[in-house]
Amino acid sequence: MKAGGHASEDGTTDFGFERVALAEKQARVDDVFRSVAKRYDLMNDLMSAGLHRAWKAQLIAMLRPPQGRPFHHLDVAGGTGDVAFRVLDAGGERTRVTVLDVNEAMLRVGSERAGQRFGERIAFVTGNAETLPLPDAAFDAYTIAFGIRNVPRIDLALSEARRVLKPGGRFLCLEFSNVDLPVLDKIYDAYSFHVIPRLGARVAGDAESYRYLVESIRKFPTRGAFAGMIERAGFRHVTHRALSGGIVAIHSGWKIS
Ligand SMILES: C[S@@+](CC[C@H](N)C(=O)[O-])C[C@H]1O[C@@H](n2cnc3c(N)ncnc32)[C@H](O)[C@@H]1O
Repeated sequence: MKAGGHASEDGTTDFGFERVALAEKQARVDDVFRSVAKRYDLMNDLMSAGLHRAWKAQLIAMLRPPQGRPFHHLDVAGGTGDVAFRVLDAGGERTRVTVLDVNEAMLRVGSERAGQRFGERIAFVTGNAETLPLPDAAFDAYTIAFGIRNVPRIDLALSEARRVLKPGGRFLCLEFSNVDLPVLDKIYDAYSFHVIPRLGARVAGDAESYRYLVESIRKFPTRGAFAGMIERAGFRHVTHRALSGGIVAIHSGWKIS
């Protein structure tokens, strides 16, 4: 397993390549997303050359929201609503989505983007993935896309995910992962460390935040290690699938009872 990626017993964790107190990380993460909120969606398209759309499409294909029956979905770290909108577009009339994020600036952009398009089928909730302000066993499925590596205590977020899911509910996580193809890894490193912060400076006026994003990807646990964390949180039938040579991965788990 790579170093870091989650909290250690001395009360510290990673903030990119820095080691910070657990209590400090969330405030620093909040600064990052407050700073980039207005340019977040544009930057996603530019940084990934639109690939994030294909990755999110794969997430929705695995989720398969039903057409005919009620389906209550929770998208945590949902930010500007990108995943939520896709769940609602793919699901039937009785699909409802709660978008939860700790950062009001990101949710505000999401709510403006949604406008009246989904009516009461979408709700935006401010809250922390580690302490969800939501009842037990309320959701059919839970997604978190490019969110969990920003959460200081990943184990708490996973146990909260399990708590709010109904028995039979599904957990899906889309997150950056490890590129393990010999040539692609070099190209990806050069692109990440040299191009992305410059792009962040030019488009979002903030190189530092994008440097954090790149560094935090390198500190996130490997696919196998993260699958172990999901299992330890009590999920069953845990699987993972690498996409685009391992640039991202989707982890899946089920709450059985
Ligand atoms: C990279 S964005 C991902 C947004 C969206 N899911 C997407 O795929 O476009 C990460 C999001 O995680 C949120 N976040 C960070 N820490 C969080 C926490 N502890 N609880 C809930 N959301 C958090 C940030 O505010 C930010 O909106």
